[in-house]
Amino acid sequence: MRKHLVLFVLAAGLATLPAAAAESSLTGTWALEISFAAGGSRGQTCALQQSGVDLSGSCVGDDGSTLDFKGQVEGSTASWKSESEWSGNPITMAFKATLTTPEELNGTFELLPMGMKGTFSGRRDPGGQAGYDAALTRSKTAGATSFPAAPPAPVAQAAAPFASAAVQAKVDALLARMTVEEKVGQLVQLPGFSGARPEATLRKGGAGSVLWLNDTKEFNRLQRVAVEESRLHIPLLFALDVIHGYRTIFPMPLAMAASWDPALVERAQTIAAREARAAGIHWTFAPMLDIARDARWGRIVEGAGEDPFLGQAMAAAQVRGFQGTALGAADRVAACAKHFAAYGAAEGGRDYDSVNVPESQLRNVYLPPFHAAARAGVATFMSAYMDLNDVPAAANRFLLRDVLRKEWGFQGFVVSDAMAPASLITQGFARHGRDAAYRSLAAGLNMDMASGTFSRHVAGLVQEGKLTMAQLDEAVRPILAVKFALGLFDQPYTDESRMASVLNDPAHRQEARLAAQRTMVLLRNEKGTLPLRKDLENVAVIGPLADSREDTEGSWILAPHPHDAVTVLEGIKAKLGAGARVSYAKGPEIRRDIPSPFDRDPKPAQTPAEAEQAFQQALATARAADTIVMVLGERQDMAGEAASRASLDLPGRQQELIEAVVALGKPVVLVLLNGRPLSINWAAEHVSAILEAWEPGSEGGHAVADVLFGDVNPGGKLPVSVPRAGGHAPYYYAHNLTQAPETAPGFTSRYWDGRSTPLYPFGFGLSYTSFAFSNLKLERPEIEVGETVGVTVDVTNTGEREGDEVVQLYVHQRAGSASRPARELKGFERIHLAPGEKRTVRFSLGPDERRYWSSAEGQWVLDAERFDIWVGGDSRATLHTVLTVNP
Ligand code: NOJ
Repeated sequence: MRKHLVLFVLAAGLATLPAAAAESSLTGTWALEISFAAGGSRGQTCALQQSGVDLSGSCVGDDGSTLDFKGQVEGSTASWKSESEWSGNPITMAFKATLTTPEELNGTFELLPMGMKGTFSGRRDPGGQAGYDAALTRSKTAGATSFPAAPPAPVAQAAAPFASAAVQAKVDALLARMTVEEKVGQLVQLPGFSGARPEATLRKGGAGSVLWLNDTKEFNRLQRVAVEESRLHIPLLFALDVIHGYRTIFPMPLAMAASWDPALVERAQTIAAREARAAGIHWTFAPMLDIARDARWGRIVEGAGEDPFLGQAMAAAQVRGFQGTALGAADRVAACAKHFAAYGAAEGGRDYDSVNVPESQLRNVYLPPFHAAARAGVATFMSAYMDLNDVPAAANRFLLRDVLRKEWGFQGFVVSDAMAPASLITQGFARHGRDAAYRSLAAGLNMDMASGTFSRHVAGLVQEGKLTMAQLDEAVRPILAVKFALGLFDQPYTDESRMASVLNDPAHRQEARLAAQRTMVLLRNEKGTLPLRKDLENVAVIGPLADSREDTEGSWILAPHPHDAVTVLEGIKAKLGAGARVSYAKGPEIRRDIPSPFDRDPKPAQTPAEAEQAFQQALATARAADTIVMVLGERQDMAGEAASRASLDLPGRQQELIEAVVALGKPVVLVLLNGRPLSINWAAEHVSAILEAWEPGSEGGHAVADVLFGDVNPGGKLPVSVPRAGGHAPYYYAHNLTQAPETAPGFTSRYWDGRSTPLYPFGFGLSYTSFAFSNLKLERPEIEVGETVGVTVDVTNTGEREGDEVVQLYVHQRAGSASRPARELKGFERIHLAPGEKRTVRFSLGPDERRYWSSAEGQWVLDAERFDIWVGGDSRATLHTVLTVNP
C-alpha cells in the first residue's frame, strides 16, 4: 500500500510547478530542479509571466507533461496553488518560492492531500528568454535527448528492375494499345481449379494471372491461348504457394528461422525457385513475413517467429533466394511479401481475426520485415485479410499507399489475398461489390485474387468516371512491368523436357538435409543422454508422427506431390543399419477436434477402443526395447492456415503416453515434430533429452538421426519463446518493462497460478559442446547520437566437440521519448568453432539499430540515452556493458 502511495506521488510530481517573486520580474524561462523529500527528482522548464502581483505560467516536464498555473507575488516571495487531477482524483499543489537573486529561485512545495513535500531550485535560462515554445525550450534548456531521425532507407532504384526506364517504355507502349477491358483483365487473377475452362476469358485478355494450378502441360496450354489467341498477346503469370520447397521440401519457415543462417535460407529458396520455375511457375506467394508473438495462431509456422530483427534477415534472404539479385534472373521466380501487414497480431490468436496495434508497434515490430523485403527488391506484396485498426488490409490506404509506395518507394504490385475484395463486404466494410472494387483499387490494390470483384466492377467504375483512367493505368502498369522484367514476353513457355532433371537433382535433397540439420534445436540433454551410441541394438520408435511422411514434410505441399519424405523411423533405421532391432508403434492417433477446411485425410479417427489398443501396443513396444525415441507433437494440419488452437499442450493422448513410457525407467529421447511452440512442461522436467525438429521436410528423418546419433552437433536456436501455457499468449521476450519489472528481486506478480517466465527463452538452444563468452568491448564507450560503434566479444568452444554457436547481441535503451523493450535483438552471427577455438565476433550498433518510432513524438527518433548491451547464446545473455549516447 505504502509503495503505491510513493509511486503515485512521484508520478504526480511530474507535473509540479515553479515559483516566482520579488522586486525583479519573474517573467522569462526558468529551468527548475524539483526534489521530493521521499527521494527522486525531476527537471522542468517553465515559462513565467508576471503582471503586477499576478503570476501565471506553464511548465513542460522532462517527460513532456505540461501544466498551467496561476499565483500571486508578495515582495520577494511568490506563492501559488494549482489544481490538477491524477487518476481522477483532485490534487492541489501549493508552492512557495523566494527569488534569491534576479537569476535564482528557491522554494518548497507540498502536494495535497497526501502531504508529500519537497524543495526546488531554479535558474533563469537565457536560451529561453525569447519566448516560450514547448518543443524548442525542451530541446534547448532541458537538454535534448530525443532527435527526429531519418526514416529507414527506401527501396533503391537498382533493386527494382521492373521500374527501370527500359521496362517502363515497353509498358507505356503496350498500355497505349489496351482497351479498358484489357487493362482490367490484367488486374484479374483466376483460380486454376481443375476442370476450370478459362479459355474464352483468356482470348479476350480477361485475366493477367492464374493461381492454384500445378500442371506444367496445362500451364503451356493456357499460355498458348493467352499469347497466341488474344489480341495483344500478353502472357499469363502463373502463381503458386511455393513456401518451403516445390519438389524438394525444406523445413517450414519457422524452422528455417531457427537456423539463424540467412545464407542457408537463401540457398533453400534458390532451389525452390529453380524447381518451381522448371515446372512452369513464375511467381510464388512467399515469403510470409508476419511477426507472430502468439503461438496459438496457426500461421506462426509460416513465418520467422517473434522478432523483427531476425525477421528482416530472413525476409531479405528469402527474396534473394527466390528472385536472385534482380528479377528476371534465370531459374528464379518473382516473390511476394505477405501478408501485408500485422496479420500475426490476430486477436486471441484466432486466424483472420481483427488486429489492433498502435502505429509504434506496427512500425517497430510488424513492418520491418516487409520493408526489408522491399529493399531486397521483392516484386510483389500480398495484402492481408484482416482488419488492421478497423480498416481491412486489402483496402487500407495507409498501408498500401502512404507506407508502401510513398514512404518506402515500392514500385511493384500488390495482389489481394484469396477472395479478399469480396470479403470486404463480409467484413462489414464495403456496401457491395462495386464499392469493394472501388475502395480497394483506390487504396492501392492492383490485383484481385480469385474473387471476380475487379472483373465485374472496375470497367464500369472507369466508364462512369468514379475511377479515372490514370488510376486504372497506375494499377496495371506494375503488373505488366513485372511480366516484362521476368522475360515472359520473350519466353512465355516452359520447356517440359527439362523439368524431370531439375526436380530430381540430388544436390537439392542434400541441401534439404543440411537445412534440416541446421534448424534443429536441442532443448534438453541431461547427463549426456544425447548423442546416442551408434551400436545400440534395440531401439523403439514410438508416436503418431514417427512414420508420417506428410507430417514430416509440413503443410503447403500442393498436389500433385509424391509424399516421399524420409520419416524419423526411416532415418533411425538407416543410421543403425540391419544389425540393430528398430521396432515401431504409432500409439493413439492425433486429430483436430474440428477438421481443417484443407483436410487431405478425412478418414475417421480411431475409436476409443482402437486408441486404447494402440496405446498398450506402444507401451509394450517400448517395454521390449533398451532405448526409446518418442516422436510427438502436432500433425501438419494442426498449424498453418485456419489452424489456431487455444491450448499449447501435446494434443490427444500423447502426454499420457510419454508419462507411461518414461515410467518404464529406460532412456527416453523426445523428438518434437510441430509447427508452433508447445508447452511441454512435464517433459521439460522428466524427459532427459528433447530435440525440437519442427516440420523438417523431405530429408527430415535423416537429419533427425544425424543429430540423435552425433554425426551432427545441433546448433539451431529458438526463433520464438516457448510459453508455459496457451493462456500466456501473446508471449515474447521484447516486451516493455513495467513498474514491477521481472528483473526486480522476488518478482512474482504476473500470474499466481504459475511462473510467467518462458519454458524456453527466445534464442535458446543447446549443443553437444559448450561455449564461453568473454571480453565484451565497445570500441568507444560514448558516441554521439548519429554515430555507430563497434561491439566485440570473444567466443570460445570450451567443450570437446566442434560445434556452432549463434552469437546474439541484445540492447536495452534505459530511457527515452517512449518506453523501450526490456531487450531487443540487434545483431547475430552463427559461427562454427573447433574444440578450444576462440573467435572474436564484431557487431555494429548504429542509428539503424537504435532508431525507433516514438508514440510520444509521432515520428522516427534517435535518443541520446544510455544503452545496456548484452551478448550471449540466448535472450537471457548476461555478459553486459553500457553504451552512452550523447546528444
Ligand atoms: C490464402 C493464404 O492466406 C495465402 O497465404 C495464400 O498465399 C493464398 N491463399 C493463395 O493460396
